[in-house]
Amino acid sequence: MTPDFIHRFVPASGGNVATSPTLLLLHGTGGNEDDLLQLGHSLAPGANLLSPRGKILENGMPRFFRRLAEGVFDEVDLLRRTQELGDFVIAAAKEYGFSPETITAVGYSNGANIAASLLLLRPGILKNAVLLRAMVPLTPTKAPDLTGTRVFLASGLSDPILPIDNARTLGKMLRDAGSELTHLEINTGHQLTSGELDTARTWLGDGS
Ligand code: MLT
Repeated sequence: MTPDFIHRFVPASGGNVATSPTLLLLHGTGGNEDDLLQLGHSLAPGANLLSPRGKILENGMPRFFRRLAEGVFDEVDLLRRTQELGDFVIAAAKEYGFSPETITAVGYSNGANIAASLLLLRPGILKNAVLLRAMVPLTPTKAPDLTGTRVFLASGLSDPILPIDNARTLGKMLRDAGSELTHLEINTGHQLTSGELDTARTWLGDGS
């Protein structure tokens, strides 16, 4: 199978693709494969970057899965799209020669939600995940084993799109599944802050 998302792959600068870690960059609603490249470079300068574009269009805006309303997800579509994204990552590792063992997802909003879904449904694909504004995407029928997976979750205390209580529930699910979770709650809304990105960079550096 060949990687079947529109995407960008940027090999690690100066490094060896096979021995460098890879960031899987997952944009928010209305974004595309270019959106998070700069953030990826700044969070992990020595990493390969794999950045797909979500296949769903909502009023012309790319997303990674369908929703029925804000915060109400089409679970059948989410299940399917999560598997599709997992398969894409594995196919891309073969195609470009990066290690499938050292992948860190960096997702924002809708991208963070599909990254959370990937953790819950396909544990083992991601070594680390940076979830910038995420909520519970779904409740898996079988609890995943996320032992050995590190997760950095950053939530805005006044985020109107991803309520903090829901983000806390996601944090509990990830912790109960055995992941090593850092949950940063920030006095802000849906927009990212430079402070949390600095914290995410340090957190990523600590785990490499
Ligand atoms: C979602 O649909 O994944 C969340 O509501 C975030 C967003 O608005 O994209």
